[in-house]
Amino acid sequence: MTVPKPRLLIVVASTRPGRVGRPVGDWFERVAAEHGGFEVDAVDLADLALPMLDEPNHPRLGQYTQEHTRAWSARVAAADAFVFVTPEYNHSFPATLKNAVDYLHVEWLHKPLGFVSYGGIAGGTRAVQAFKSVAAALMMYVANNLVNITFVATRIKDGVFIEDADVRAAAEAMLDELLTLEAALRSLR
Ligand SMILES: Cc1cc2nc3c(=O)[nH]c(=O)nc-3n(C[C@H](O)[C@H](O)[C@H](O)COP(=O)(O)O)c2cc1C
Repeated sequence: MTVPKPRLLIVVASTRPGRVGRPVGDWFERVAAEHGGFEVDAVDLADLALPMLDEPNHPRLGQYTQEHTRAWSARVAAADAFVFVTPEYNHSFPATLKNAVDYLHVEWLHKPLGFVSYGGIAGGTRAVQAFKSVAAALMMYVANNLVNITFVATRIKDGVFIEDADVRAAAEAMLDELLTLEAALRSLR
């Protein structure tokens, strides 16, 4: 009997015109597919186009009134692990990511979370640190092995993210850790 693979949802957090988030997300989606440990799904928040939170009830109740919320809920609920591909904006993560996360509650609980963060010299690490208090509220377990891409603009050529050996190794280590965490956290869900 074949055991189904856990499902990884990759979320591209930046939405602005000309963003590098999409090429970085496309690269990571390829790495995750080649890694082979997960069934891979990917969502681009620019395509998802959620409005600013427009639900009247606390998401903990799951009483969603909007079709876009029900669709987002089903997508996130189906995932066993997440990787957020996020820039650092003003030493934090973008508002688009917070909005998408705030829509839901139980769908996030007790699931592991990795990051592909990027920016200038800090590689988006301050965005990751800022998200950790949000992750704690949702009992998401942030992996220790993360991908932090420095000077991201220099690594994009003709709209494609160019990996190096260090970034590739970091991505694979994170995926390995997410697999382990996913198995360990399963009993809590
Ligand atoms: C509003 C805004 C704030 C930014 N703040 C930071 C920052 O705090 N740290 C940093 O390393 N880069 C910062 N940057 C530069 C981004 O790292 C760079 O523009 C990156 O391409 C943004 O990701 P995106 O192209 O996917 O939107 C900022 C960019 C924008 C648009």
